[in-house]
Amino acid sequence: MRRILELEKRYLAQTYHRQPLVLVEGRGMVVRDIGGKEYLDFVGGIAVCALGHCHPALVEAISEQAKKLMHVSNLYYTTPQVELAQLLAKITPKGIDKFFFCNSGAEAVEGAFKLSIKHTKRQRIVAMQGSFHGRTSATVGATWKASYREPFAPLIPKIFDFVPFDDLAAAERAITDRTAAVIVEPIQGEGGINVPSEGYLKGLRELCDARGALLIFDEVQTGMGRTGKWFACQHWGVTPDVMTIAKALGGGFPIGCFGAKAEVMGSFSAGDHASTFGGNPLACAAATTVVRTMMRLKLPRRAARVGRYFKDRLEELAEKHDCVREVRGLGLMLGMELTTKEAADMTVKKAMERGFLINCTADRVLRFVPPLVVEREHIDRLVDALDEILSEVRGC
Ligand SMILES: Cc1ncc(COP(=O)(O)O)c(C=O)c1O
Repeated sequence: MRRILELEKRYLAQTYHRQPLVLVEGRGMVVRDIGGKEYLDFVGGIAVCALGHCHPALVEAISEQAKKLMHVSNLYYTTPQVELAQLLAKITPKGIDKFFFCNSGAEAVEGAFKLSIKHTKRQRIVAMQGSFHGRTSATVGATWKASYREPFAPLIPKIFDFVPFDDLAAAERAITDRTAAVIVEPIQGEGGINVPSEGYLKGLRELCDARGALLIFDEVQTGMGRTGKWFACQHWGVTPDVMTIAKALGGGFPIGCFGAKAEVMGSFSAGDHASTFGGNPLACAAATTVVRTMMRLKLPRRAARVGRYFKDRLEELAEKHDCVREVRGLGLMLGMELTTKEAADMTVKKAMERGFLINCTADRVLRFVPPLVVEREHIDRLVDALDEILSEVRGC
C-alpha cells in the first residue's frame, strides 16, 4: 500500500483528500482493499454505484457492448443512445422528454446553463447558498463554497446571483427579467443534505413562470431513485424546464445528461453544443442496463423503504449521543450532522478502521449515500458500530 501512496504523491495532481486506502475489488455492498480487508461501502462512489459494485447485469452489458461497438462519435446515429433517451423520458417528470448526453455532472450543468441562456436570451443565473454544481469554470461559479471559486475568479463568468437556500422571499428579490435560469438541487448534497420546506420548489416554479426564467433542477446526486422516487423533485410534484442527471445513471460508468422540455431543447440547433464521447454506445448501454435493472428491482421504492429504516436507526443515535445535532434526508440520501468537524473526521476514521466506508461533507455532516441494494442487516451493523464510535469520540 505504501508504494501506491508514494506513486500517487509523485505522479498525480494533489487535489484530493484521499483516505489511506487502496481499493482493488468490489461486489454488492462490499469493497476489498489491497491487503484483503473488506469494508461495507456506505459511500458508493459518492452516490454513484446504485446497483452495488460490479452488478452482474451491468458487467455483462458493458462486456457485450464493448465487444460490439464502443465509440463512433455523434457524426452518426447509434441505437443505445436513442434507447437510453427513450427510457429516460419514461422515468423523468412528464414534460422532460429531450436529452443531451455528456460525461459528467458538471458537463450536464454547464450544458443546462448554455441552453437556458440561448433559450431565454437572458444572461443571469440565480444559484443557492450551500450549492454544489461542479468544478468547470461555469459550474464552479454557481457553486457556493468561496474556496472553490476564488482562486479561479478570472475564469468564472460574473453572471451568478446567490440567494439563501429554502428562502422564497430572497429568491423573489433575486429573480428578475434578466434571469435566464434558477438552478437548485432539490435536496442539497455537498452542502450537507439539506431538504427544503414543503412549498419551496413549487414557489420557485411560480416565481420562474411569473418572470419568464427557466427552472433547472440539478438532480446529479438526488436522481436515479436515491431519494425514494426516480427524481427528488417528484416528491413535491414540481417539473423543471431543464434537469441534470449523472452519477448513478451509469452505475459507475461515466455518463451525464441534461433533459429539457421539447420547446426549450428546441432552442439548440446543430452546432450549438457537442461532446466527442457524449452518449457513446458503451456508456449508453451501461446506463440503459442501470435503468432497466432499477426498474426490475424496484429500487426507488426500495430506497424509500430501507431509507426510512436507516433514518429511524440514525435518529436513535441522535437521541443517545449529544454530539449528534440532527439527522436529515430522504430515502437513501441521509446526513447526520455532528457538533464539530473534529468529531465527524474522527468518526469517519474510526468507522474505516472497523470496516465501514462513510463520508463527511459540509465539514461536520456524515453523509450516507450507499448502493440502493443495501440491506437492513448492513445498516444495523453500521449503526451498532457508530453507536460505539460516538461513545468514544471526544465531544460526544
Ligand atoms: C448536485 C451536483 N451537481 C453536479 C455535480 C458535479 O458532478 P461531477 O463531479 O460528475 O462533475 C455534483 C457532484 O458531486 C453534484 O453533487
